[in-house]
Order: sequence, then C-alpha cells, then structure tokens
Amino acid sequence: MDITLQKDIVEWDIYNWSRAIDFWDNKATELVASFMEKNKRPKVLDLGGRNGGISLFWALKGCNVVWSDIDESGLDKAKALHKKYGVSDRVRYEIINSLEIPYENEFDIVCFKSIMGAVYGECGGQEAAERMLVQISKALKPDGYLFFAENLAGSNLHMFLRKKLRKWGSTWHYFKVDELISYLSLFKEIQYESFGLIGLFGRVSFVNKLFSSFDRKFDHKVKENKRYIISLICRK
Ligand SMILES: C[S@@+](CC[C@H](N)C(=O)[O-])C[C@H]1O[C@@H](n2cnc3c(N)ncnc32)[C@H](O)[C@@H]1O
Repeated sequence: MDITLQKDIVEWDIYNWSRAIDFWDNKATELVASFMEKNKRPKVLDLGGRNGGISLFWALKGCNVVWSDIDESGLDKAKALHKKYGVSDRVRYEIINSLEIPYENEFDIVCFKSIMGAVYGECGGQEAAERMLVQISKALKPDGYLFFAENLAGSNLHMFLRKKLRKWGSTWHYFKVDELISYLSLFKEIQYESFGLIGLFGRVSFVNKLFSSFDRKFDHKVKENKRYIISLICRK
C-alpha cells in the first residue's frame, strides 16, 4: 500500500495503524474473492467512520459499503475522499449510533477503528461496549465477520503520557487484551494481533516513522499487553 493511501485510510500514527489494517488484508481479500466468484459483492457496515478511511479500504476491495457515524462531522470529508478514489458509487452514507444499529441480518462484514474506547468511556462502560457488540452481531448475517482495531492501554507509561498529552486521554477507555476478548463471547474464530510501543509518541511524521520502525523490529519481544494497538477478525 503506498503512503498516500495509508494516510487516507488510517489518518494518524500511520505506520503502526497501517499494520492493524494489513492484519485484515488477507482475510478481507479472500472473503471478497469468494463473493466475486458468485458475481456478488459483500455488504459492509463501517461504524464511526468519520472521514471515511476505513470505508475506503473496503470500497477499494470491491465491497458495497455503508459509511456511518453518530454525527455528520466527517461526512463531507468522507464523500470527498471516496470521490478522489473513484469509489463513490459503492458507498452509501447514514447516521447510525453503534448502540442502536437499525439493521438485522443485513451485512456480511461490520468494521470499525477506534470507536469502542469512546463508547465505553462516554456511554456507559462495559455495558455499553457489550451492547455495541450485541448490536453488531444482530446486524451481521450468520457467519458474517467483524473486523476492528482499537487502542490498547499498553504500559503504565502509555497511560500516563496519554493523560498528559491528549485532550481526550481522561474520557477515552483504553482496553486490556483479555478484557476486550472477554466481551467477544458472541463471536467464534477470533484472531488478533497487537502492535506498537513508541510510535504514538512520534507526533512529527519523520519521528513517527523512526519510532514505528523500531516498533516493527522489537514489539514482538514485549508482552502483548504492553503494546498499544489491537487488530481483530471475529466470525459470528
Ligand atoms: C477517534 S474517531 C475514529 C474515526 C475513524 N473510525 C478512524 O479511525 O479514523 C471516533 C469516531 O467514533 C464516532 N462515535 C463515537 N460514539 C459513537 C457511537 N455511539 N456510534 C457511532 N459512532 C460513534 C465519533 O463520532 C468519531 O467519528
């Protein structure tokens, strides 16, 4: 994936978050191919899609995508992004609260990146996170897939620096790996990988790149709960 596309899909801390999206890539390609063989396209729901990057990933694969978010703040940017890549005809736009998804047995794939931390932190903790997953399961067809990527708590240093440096550091909930997996009992065949140690502290592009190449070499040597990104593929 070239760097411009990576930026358009993941937007921030691109070198480490791109690895979370790369983790989806083989399964995503395989799934789309199995639909195309039958002259069909998978139906995808992107939750909390804001500026449209994750919807773009699926639309470029050939899926029919519903971009959604709880509000319209990213809508114009999302539409412009999809137009830039010539995929507008495969994307619809809807305002959807992930706690009340108005679909049942509708989608082959549901996806999201970085929204469950807000739902947990601002809408009712564990109960809200679990409710969102129940809603996702309901919206998926039998054997449908959930692809998602979230922020992990990482180490104590990660948590300390986030509180100091990020304006949302005190309301956003950062998950532990075991905690997140324990919410996924509605799903089977859960695969996941975690990434990243210092990349997020590189706020200028070249420092982010430098720190992320360090992470790429060394993060597998550190316990998964000390890394700060998790990417998952779950089958209903
Ligand atoms: C950190 S942004 C992530 C945006 C995008 N997924 C990405 O990774 O670039 C969090 C997004 O979640 C959305 N959001 C927060 N609560 C939500 C909810 N209950 N239902 C749907 N979207 C929600 C916000 O409006 C925002 O666009």
